[in-house]
Amino acid sequence: MKEQIGAIEKDALAQITAAINERSLDDARVAVLGKKGSLTLVAVGIKDVPKEDKAAVGQLLNAARAVISAALDVKQTALREIADRAALAGMDPTLPARALPPGALHPLTQIRDQAISILRRMGFALADGPEIEDEFHCFDALNTPADHPARNEKDTFYFDSGKLLRTHTSSVQIRSMEAQAPPIRIIAPGSAYRRDEIDATHLSVFNQLEGLAVGADISLPDLKGTLEYFFRELFGTTTEVRFRPHFFPFTEPSFEIDVKLQIKGQAPRWIEVAGCGMVDPAVFDAINKSRKDHAYDPENTTGFAFGMGLDRLAMIRWGIRDIRLLIENDVRFLRQFA
Ligand code: DAH
Repeated sequence: MKEQIGAIEKDALAQITAAINERSLDDARVAVLGKKGSLTLVAVGIKDVPKEDKAAVGQLLNAARAVISAALDVKQTALREIADRAALAGMDPTLPARALPPGALHPLTQIRDQAISILRRMGFALADGPEIEDEFHCFDALNTPADHPARNEKDTFYFDSGKLLRTHTSSVQIRSMEAQAPPIRIIAPGSAYRRDEIDATHLSVFNQLEGLAVGADISLPDLKGTLEYFFRELFGTTTEVRFRPHFFPFTEPSFEIDVKLQIKGQAPRWIEVAGCGMVDPAVFDAINKSRKDHAYDPENTTGFAFGMGLDRLAMIRWGIRDIRLLIENDVRFLRQFA
């Protein structure tokens, strides 16, 4: 048996040396170490070896297997190196790489990032809330009565469970105040959903940016100053901004904000860009009830809130006439913003 093992080892090493590619090397491995390989079959015979020789023969077998395995490994590395070198032959690795076409951010991403950066400079922190909301956070806590048209099945996507797709990012105001006592200064960019007929100015999913500042001495001039500054940073220092009295259930007083759009060759016109107002004390009451404390005491807590449509801001900034262009991902359109 000893001779047999020696012969197998010698034969295997010869086969390994002779292998010209990974395929023939693998054949050699299977022929010797495989399930029906020559060394494997010899090893089966160890049961017939006399007891006193078993240990010595076993050692011999193991040593042979180790030598063969090592030779296989060395040969495999060598063969791979040869194959790699062959694959690279004729190629000049010092040539400059082929240029990749540069990518760019989507216009909506650009305007959102810019809006965030302006507001962060003013001390607003990013906040977040779920897009699948409940009626409490989307409506009730925002002082919106049960018969308000925004709560209509025709205008809002409801789930069978009674939950809904948030119709505005104002729900994040509630989530933030529930989680944190005043002072608070947050912004929340995100998607909002409405069952609108889709046309050049409406989508059923659109993007808003909500803002909320609550503290001890926050007043209407703070709201005006903050938002005037914001729109002048966004659209240019000479931008005209006006506040038009309006109604929102969760603010009192409430305003809509218009900016004056001046397009060359067109008469200037006012365009509505946001809603805002001073937080209605009824909202603070709802928050206190939900928090089970009196952190938002309506007697000495005031604040302002605002919400704007990011899609609308992008349309104004770049003179985009059809909101659908923002979601079609047509590179011929998007390339213009690179
Ligand atoms: N949530 C309102 C909307 O979607 C926008 C809005 C108005 C947000 C007034 C506010 C606000 O925070 O104070 O039309």
